[in-house]
Amino acid sequence: MKNFDNYFTKKWQLQKIKPLPKSPFTHNLLFSALSSRYNCAVILKIFPSRKDFLHEQRALEYFNGIGCAQLIDYDTEKCGLLLEEIKPGTQLSTFFPREEDKATEYAAQVIKKLHSKPLAASQFKNFPKINNWLNLLNTFKDDKMSPILLQKAQTLAQKLLNSQGDLYLLHGDLHHENILKHNDSWIAIDPKGVIGELAYEFGAFIRNPIPALLEQRNPLEIMLNRALHFSTAFGINKQQILEWSFVQAVLAACWAIQGNSQSPDYWIKIAQMLNNQF
Ligand SMILES: Nc1ncnc2c1ncn2[C@@H]1O[C@H](COP(=O)(O)OP(=O)(O)OP(=O)(O)O)[C@@H](O)[C@H]1O
Ligand SMILES: [Mg+2]
Repeated sequence: MKNFDNYFTKKWQLQKIKPLPKSPFTHNLLFSALSSRYNCAVILKIFPSRKDFLHEQRALEYFNGIGCAQLIDYDTEKCGLLLEEIKPGTQLSTFFPREEDKATEYAAQVIKKLHSKPLAASQFKNFPKINNWLNLLNTFKDDKMSPILLQKAQTLAQKLLNSQGDLYLLHGDLHHENILKHNDSWIAIDPKGVIGELAYEFGAFIRNPIPALLEQRNPLEIMLNRALHFSTAFGINKQQILEWSFVQAVLAACWAIQGNSQSPDYWIKIAQMLNNQF
């Protein structure tokens, strides 16, 4: 272990520390361990970005273990979170594509737990808004992005933002790898903590798992079925869910181009498929 991690080892009395496999899309470091300080199995998540750390820490505190992994402790100076280890921790992506309908139902159950009530107005100052994220659509310009898709996403985002319903603290990235099996039920990890209407939350699940969704014979049909499932389960208009899904796919493509670490092609293909629905 590096010195950096020794700090956490001492602070939280960690043993049996093992690095988790690192995804190509993250700069964060994750370790599983046993904490004798808290007497339980834990995950240590260390962030190079203070902003990302603060958003996740605040979101985890807000959810307080309901529908989302429990935050046990955190260190603001070194940007470390100590989380309960979810067991067995199987990712919901393992259900795709064989048990697609079950996976969608489990995702709906997690979303119901996370969002039993809208966010109190007194909390608004503590979190970013989806408006802040979506602003990028209005300024983005790059040869890799189709101006037609971008223009459509700008217009739809504006329309959807102007007609938002009750505001919730959204997870903001609730895809299959951020939903883990927890004993006999399912739970979220890795919340971004962003304020927006509930219809926004379904987009991440609908356009994933990357890349397997686009390797199927019928990705559009899968996305439409998911939107229908969520529409029925939450009483939210299916078209509104699909419009948010499209806008977010374009935003994901912009982020990929901007971050320069991931190809935007997957998100652009998803956006093109959804675009044909409007
Ligand atoms: N509390 C936890 N219990 C069990 N496993 C976990 C926990 N937190 C994270 N993991 C495992 O580590 C993986 C990555 O965690 P997480 O999503 O928090 O990291 P990240 O840096 O945000 O990565 P990514 O960008 O891939 O989402 C998860 O998909 C999961 O398999
Ligand atoms: Mg994640």
